[in-house]
Amino acid sequence: MQRTRVTPVRSCRVCGAEDWHTFLELGRVPLANSFVTDESVPEQIFPLALMSCRSCRLMSLTHVVDEHDLYEHYFYVSSPSRLIHWHMEGLAAHYRSRLDLGPDSLVVEIGSNNGDQLSKFREFGCAVLGIDPARNITAQARARGIDTVTDFFTAEVAKRVRAGHGRADLMMARHVIAHIDDLHDVVAGVRELLAPDGLFVLEVPYLVELINRRAFDTVYHEHLSYFLVSTLQRLFERFGMRVVDVAEFDVHGGSIVVTIAHADSRHRVNPETVDARVRAEEEAGLFRDEAYDGFADIVDRLRASLRSSLLDLREEGLRLAGYGASAKGVTLLTTSQVPPGSLEFCSDTTPEKQGTLVPGLGIPVISPEEAREREPDVYVLLAWNYRDEILAKEADFLARGGRFFIPIPEPQLVGGERAAISSAARS
Ligand code: TMP
Ligand code: ZN
Repeated sequence: MQRTRVTPVRSCRVCGAEDWHTFLELGRVPLANSFVTDESVPEQIFPLALMSCRSCRLMSLTHVVDEHDLYEHYFYVSSPSRLIHWHMEGLAAHYRSRLDLGPDSLVVEIGSNNGDQLSKFREFGCAVLGIDPARNITAQARARGIDTVTDFFTAEVAKRVRAGHGRADLMMARHVIAHIDDLHDVVAGVRELLAPDGLFVLEVPYLVELINRRAFDTVYHEHLSYFLVSTLQRLFERFGMRVVDVAEFDVHGGSIVVTIAHADSRHRVNPETVDARVRAEEEAGLFRDEAYDGFADIVDRLRASLRSSLLDLREEGLRLAGYGASAKGVTLLTTSQVPPGSLEFCSDTTPEKQGTLVPGLGIPVISPEEAREREPDVYVLLAWNYRDEILAKEADFLARGGRFFIPIPEPQLVGGERAAISSAARS
């Protein structure tokens, strides 16, 4: 088997400084999307730790695991979540009216996955082009008629796309730049491909929300970077571009949609969103090491309490299973040292994951249909970012007395009332 390369991060991928504050060590963890079918394959584990750049406050992993190969056959397919679809529709409608997009417009998406987001723009008659390295998933996008280049997005690829298709009126990159080590090359590519008055829409998990929601499980090897708005300003300023607008959305544990334009374009900075956010980041103390040390203490306590709460449920003789074989779940369970046998299985809607084992834990992933036959007493909600939607979808399970264990922001049990009442009535 080919050995995976691990490189310690020396200089900041945003500002180039080498002055880091390392504040959270999560131990050695398997790669979160390395779902395997065979338990005999020895799993590799890699250091997972966080540090903060004292110059631009980029939060970064301390080590980069070369996962280049991973993305060519990727397990993550955009979730069949109604909320995410509404979000994508909302974004499409917003930028359509902001830029007056129509049949003469070109929309390019970096990390286009199965084409869900681009399909919303195609409904407006726009020309669309996706760029994504995953062969298995870009095949799905092309099968539904979304023109897609199977490649990593680089400045080089941007040049080629520009030569073939012209400049893009709108570019998007949703939940992808945290995965990319060479940020400067990506931003150079965006500058190259974006029309003079075009907009670049960047969606990332918001570091402020990660801290507020204690979402330490969204830290895994694929996520190299965690951003403040101020840090993104620094990044784009280097390339003659600027952040003109920021909006917050309650998706993927709290995300920001950042609108970026060429500095010499007609687009003006919205001080009510951009300046206000930057001020709030400063006021929250996020430019000082102490904020990160405080977060690390909270995470250490949370990990201990997750472990003891789950062990208590097992002690009570309850059957536990995971809901959503999410990448987050791998960090949550391994770094909290939850014994692997604690969960009987994980239910997941992604066909690519079904029939595999959760990395490092050997927990079988099964379909929701199969899970219904083997219903546990308690589902550990490993896809907690879809909490409300999943609780609504599983109303029958809750009505039967089933319970959900919600791990983030702190352990909480939901449901079971009916069962408690009925057993009280029987006695
Ligand atoms: P994500 O948080 O990175 O989107 O991953 C969530 C995982 O949970 C993904 O593998 C799909 C799965 N999932 C379910 O199994 N059922 C659901 O209802 C939802 C929304 C997600
Ligand atoms: Zn920096």
